[in-house]
Amino acid sequence: MEVLKNKKTLQDFVERQKEMGKKIGFAPTMGALHKGHLSLYEMARKENDLVISSIFVNPTQFNNAEDLEKYPRDVDRDILILKNSGLVDAVYIPEVTDIYPEKTESRHYDFDGLENEMEGKSRPGHFDGVGTVVEELFRQVKPDSAYFGEKDFQQLAIIKKLVEKTKLPVKIAGVPIYRAENGLALSSRNQRLHEDRREASKIIYETLKKVNDWFRVITIPEIKDRVTDIFDHQKGMKLEYFLIADEDTLKETDFFYTGKTYRAFIVVMVDGVRLIDNMHLD
Ligand code: PAJ
Repeated sequence: MEVLKNKKTLQDFVERQKEMGKKIGFAPTMGALHKGHLSLYEMARKENDLVISSIFVNPTQFNNAEDLEKYPRDVDRDILILKNSGLVDAVYIPEVTDIYPEKTESRHYDFDGLENEMEGKSRPGHFDGVGTVVEELFRQVKPDSAYFGEKDFQQLAIIKKLVEKTKLPVKIAGVPIYRAENGLALSSRNQRLHEDRREASKIIYETLKKVNDWFRVITIPEIKDRVTDIFDHQKGMKLEYFLIADEDTLKETDFFYTGKTYRAFIVVMVDGVRLIDNMHLD
């Protein structure tokens, strides 16, 4: 596996591969790799000749200095995981100046309102930061296809919108949420939880499954009351938001309309760690 530590070595590598006519699959990450990330590479491997990943803790998408500082970083461990997985041909680990040659700030995007829902409300400026880094990575890596997890469903929708608006020739694929055995969605942030809290956090997935059972049986306000009640009774957990939204517009809904598809979205703070999850409702 090639470890590409700056823009020049990446671009030389990509150019050689393109000359050989290789189809490139790309999955960007912020490191602290886990099996959820590996599931992106697995899908990328099946659909391409070559898989490139990147590790870059993007400063402009953190709206909170403490969160950026506390973000887990261990590049040597990540490189070892990638090598041992046998799924990735090259990893790009840029310096901040490779991505932001001048100022470390985001561009402003219009994602047709997707950026104003859910995480956009909770984390102002977050999606401008994500858009800026992903657009730049796409321009440098020049992938044929790029892979994003449904765990960050709003991010996935926004990347699809970014490609539509910038007309970059990249196909975007969504990868199902990879969960621990107890149902907790894998996340780099889970490392910050004590094991007993990780176990208790399975209530998030269990709640989403209940919501799916209640879907179209009771009203959405009733579902919301029940979810609020569940988390009111969890020690050390705080429900930041729970809502049901139209899968296309990501707008919250209080009614189910026929012909539309819906998804439940939840964010819970567990001992100061922000856990995010979602589930398609059927
Ligand atoms: P990061 O949180 O490292 O996630 C990288 C990719 O892995 C994202 O597409 C995310 O949705 C996916 N992922 C994380 N946990 C997953 C799980 N349990 N199952 C399936 N996929 C999972 O998301 C980012 O980094 C950044 O915002 C980035 C896109 C790299 C831009 O900086």
